[in-house]
Amino acid sequence: MLNSTIAILISYLLGSISFSILFARWLRKIDIREHGSGNAGATNTLRVLGKGPAICVFLLDIAKGSAGVLIGLWLGDGGDWVAVACGLAAIGGHNWPVFFRFKGGKGIATTVGALVVWAFLPTLIAGIVAIALIALTRYVSLGSIVFAALLPVLFFLFGLHAAFIWGALVVALLAIVRHRNNIVKLLNGTENKLGGGKKSEP
Ligand code: G3P
Repeated sequence: MLNSTIAILISYLLGSISFSILFARWLRKIDIREHGSGNAGATNTLRVLGKGPAICVFLLDIAKGSAGVLIGLWLGDGGDWVAVACGLAAIGGHNWPVFFRFKGGKGIATTVGALVVWAFLPTLIAGIVAIALIALTRYVSLGSIVFAALLPVLFFLFGLHAAFIWGALVVALLAIVRHRNNIVKLLNGTENKLGGGKKSEP
């Protein structure tokens, strides 16, 4: 129990390392949360800082999600449930980072990282659908929402352990809640498109 609690705490702290905030500080001495969409994530890093930093942020945000789950599997003593709790803790850390006044991102890259360790194939399938959708529509937010919403469905269809299905359900709900402003903008037709230029107001 103690080991599992420590693993969950480490995962939350790892998730709280917000790479988009750090890169924006290092490269431009700005707070990324005051620029572009105001989101502390890879998509807004692309908008505000460009391709190279965005790729780095995306990969590092994925890595911290995977690292959290792997720590849970290695250190925790509760099997699949601890792996799930650690993944959710890393995503929670990304969304509400203790190091940055609890104002973080929407957790999609960290979700990718955590869920490829939970269950690689269904996560890959959801990822491919999301990439296709983003390529077609240029809306990253739409791809992100569909990606997250597909996860519990695919996990169920793949007959995964209940821990992962419940975990994926929480992930999907979190993603929808975090994207609520994007959903309004998608419905209004005012959502930012990928490559649609920089936007100065959050
Ligand atoms: O993962 C975040 C993405 O879905 C939307 O980001 O900056 O356009 O709100 P953003």
